[in-house]
Amino acid sequence: MQANEKYIDESRQGEALMTLPTRNASKKLFLESYGCQMNFSDSEIVASILTEEGYQTTNQVNEADLILLNTCSIRDKAEQTVRNRLNALNAIKKQNPSLKIGVLGCMAERLKHKFLEEEHLVDIVVGPDAYRDLPNLLTEVEDGRDAINVQLSKEETYAEISPIRLGGNGVTAFVTITRGCDNMCTFCVVPFTRGRERSRDPHSILREIQELHEAGYKEVTLLGQNVDSYLWYGGGPKKDFKNATEIQKATAVDFAQLLDMVAMQFPSIRIRFSTSNPQDMKDNVLETMAKHHNICKYIHLPVQSGSTTVLERMNRQHTREQYFELIDKIRKIIPDCALSHDMIAGFCGETEEEHQDTLSLMEYVKYDFGYMFAYSDRPGTPAHKKMADDVPAETKKRRLQEIISLQQQHSAERMKAYVGKTHEVLIEGNSKKDENYWFGRNTQNAVIVFPKIEGTSVGDFVQVYVHDCTTATLLGEMQNQN
Ligand code: SAH
Ligand code: F3S
Repeated sequence: MQANEKYIDESRQGEALMTLPTRNASKKLFLESYGCQMNFSDSEIVASILTEEGYQTTNQVNEADLILLNTCSIRDKAEQTVRNRLNALNAIKKQNPSLKIGVLGCMAERLKHKFLEEEHLVDIVVGPDAYRDLPNLLTEVEDGRDAINVQLSKEETYAEISPIRLGGNGVTAFVTITRGCDNMCTFCVVPFTRGRERSRDPHSILREIQELHEAGYKEVTLLGQNVDSYLWYGGGPKKDFKNATEIQKATAVDFAQLLDMVAMQFPSIRIRFSTSNPQDMKDNVLETMAKHHNICKYIHLPVQSGSTTVLERMNRQHTREQYFELIDKIRKIIPDCALSHDMIAGFCGETEEEHQDTLSLMEYVKYDFGYMFAYSDRPGTPAHKKMADDVPAETKKRRLQEIISLQQQHSAERMKAYVGKTHEVLIEGNSKKDENYWFGRNTQNAVIVFPKIEGTSVGDFVQVYVHDCTTATLLGEMQNQN
């Protein structure tokens, strides 16, 4: 169960990306990532670009010639974490004045030149669409100039750059399919830091998955701020689709078609995707999920609030009732589908009644997992400009706690329902607690640990009978495999 700060994987925050030694590498890069999966994925692109420039990644910050922090702006606390990290790096820079420090990602985009003024040790500021310019910017810095590129792009998808993956487990990988977001949820900074929504050429997506397949990967997660909105019509922003030619429109590829292509072409690879947006999730996606065994039965479907009036203030394009209809449809088309959510407690003007609506919506859905946050006012967002952040901090905290407690109950119930059944599990690595146990997940994304049996290894799909569970983990035994 994840709560509050840091979306997705708390344990990976601030993780340094390590790659295998490269020949001819003369300089050392320490690259650290914060925030969402997209940032971790972008860092793999940055590593690829800089490897071409003769950099070798290191996880020893003291031996670095260049330190890059890929940053997150989603909540104030995320930015504070980066500020604190920069303060700590200051000491290293004092000892090694030739060390260069750069800030990438959403904070770079949000603060732009201000970063260079406020944080004197920062030499380079690069926004999420400008990573190809890193080699030039590094030359600028070598010549003693501050270097900044925070240009957002309507086309950039880094389509043909092969990310360098060697930070992970060699089995699961992220593949970016869309960049940016056009939704303008009033609380959210992403449309400002990541720009217009655009989709990546399906051929380059399939090519990247083919490379992963050849390298032994067994699971890909297709990534985007709003994957259901994926639409390839030859390139360019989603908002311009209406101006596309008749041929472009007739041959356009939507998310369901992309999923279908990936599932058909890679039957031995598990496919996940994130994030889905209720307003854009279409029936054809659910039908495609139901049709293919290798598309995982799990949807991360943020709702943010259970109250129609709050959803309206948030500019989410659906009501509470429409969300219920979608949930009912998912349950009908994919009966064994797991669901997770993002929820915000204490958005502008949230009344006690509206908060109760959130709890009752959660009761209706009984999500498997949840990512829950107290509302954090972000400068520049429509909510910041037009609404008062008027729910007192203690009330936000109390409501968040109620949401988290309820989610814990629901997660425990869901976990219990998996006990007594056999699950297909992809072995992803050793259990953190005991290396005599494997760790993996079932199709619903629930974590399962089980004793190792000789002859099995990371990357194998195995059948595991689940005999017990804790609040967040299933405990099992491998069945005879055949
Ligand atoms: N569509 C995106 C959402 C990115 S933000 C995706 O790919 O996941 C992730 C989550 O952070 C949001 O769903 C929302 O629940 C939360 N969030 C965004 N802005 C926030 C804010 N200002 N305060 C608190 N939580 C916020
Ligand atoms: Fe943010 Fe809403 Fe897009 S939460 S990323 S503006 S879908």
